[in-house]
Amino acid sequence: MRTPLSRRAVLAAASAAAASAMLPRRSFAATKAKIKIGLLLPYSGTYASLGNNITDAMKLAASEKKNRLGGREIEWVAVDDESDPAKAPANVNKLVVGEKVDILTGPVHSGVAMAMMQIVRQEKTLTIVTNAGAQPITGSLCSPNVFRTSFSNWQTSYPCAGVMLKDGRKKAVGMFWNYSFGQESMSAFREGFTKGGGTIVKEIPVPFPTTEFQANLSEIASLKPDAVFVFFAGAGAAKFIKDYAAAGLMEKIPLYGSGFLTEGVLGAAGPAANGIKTTLHYADALDTPANKKFREAFKKATSREADVYAVAGYDTIHLLAQALDKVKGDTSAEKDLIAALEAARTESPRGPFRFGKTHNPIQNVYVRLVKGGREEVLGLAQKEADDPAFGCAMAT
Ligand code: PHB
Repeated sequence: MRTPLSRRAVLAAASAAAASAMLPRRSFAATKAKIKIGLLLPYSGTYASLGNNITDAMKLAASEKKNRLGGREIEWVAVDDESDPAKAPANVNKLVVGEKVDILTGPVHSGVAMAMMQIVRQEKTLTIVTNAGAQPITGSLCSPNVFRTSFSNWQTSYPCAGVMLKDGRKKAVGMFWNYSFGQESMSAFREGFTKGGGTIVKEIPVPFPTTEFQANLSEIASLKPDAVFVFFAGAGAAKFIKDYAAAGLMEKIPLYGSGFLTEGVLGAAGPAANGIKTTLHYADALDTPANKKFREAFKKATSREADVYAVAGYDTIHLLAQALDKVKGDTSAEKDLIAALEAARTESPRGPFRFGKTHNPIQNVYVRLVKGGREEVLGLAQKEADDPAFGCAMAT
């Protein structure tokens, strides 16, 4: 589902792109000293903590590589995208055309990512999506120069349906922020849930980033489903969890979701989050040396707990480091650099990671339960989950 762009925004993007076509591309020889990494991330609004964790984990990974990629020192250029798709063409152009970044990373918000795709596909900017899960990024709009180190919404939402059905919950209400990611999450969940014999009694879209949930919670109480599936994230998720518990629903109607519901919000949500079951490609409690090392290092560097967003940022830099070392920092060797990224492997805190044909990760999806304020891992919801890659020619 594409986030509509205003005609003016599209024209601005097109004219900036045309202007840039007349400029020489950044040449390797001229730029050998520093490699410019663009960060298109939210540093304000409901997703601010997500953007900060991605950024800080990227910088942590860079420090583990002595702040060099392919022998070149890193120059970071960050833009606050405000999770606002309407501002995305201008923000992307600031980095791609204005700053001429060698590599673009981000964003968090799928609507911002959809606008970004229009520009980076045309400009052929090497782009690594560090969160946004919109299906078309590695589906109908897939492109050789675009990779994703996070997830597709299908990977994180479809398996939740099976978990709910296994728990004997056959009648569900869905509630989600009403933009591309929420809509696609709902539809992936719906696909799995109805296929498995479940019924969705009501779908409740909520405008992004609204956190006024009271009327919807009263409606859920009167509908009396077996369970509720939701997509909210960041500060909005913490508010939703607290409101759900305060309405007395947590004991009566179990809450499920893709794991973004509880990522990085357990501190803010407090005991209200106990009992929430989610599916995600990461869990704090994964008992592996890579995860332990990463969590300790992130805590030491930031005084905060790591989460799934930090994992994507961390892996992005480690994968880039490998690929750029292979091409000796020559970002103009586009084909070789893409091939090197496709072949890159990293000891991810999330467990085994590799890029699939469409440049989306193939990764495990875990079942998680919040207990005593901590996220426990109950097992695997899906081993080595790939993405259906709807409409991507690179899939064949
Ligand atoms: C998205 O818009 O793709 C998105 C935002 C926040 C999340 C997950 C996905 O936690």
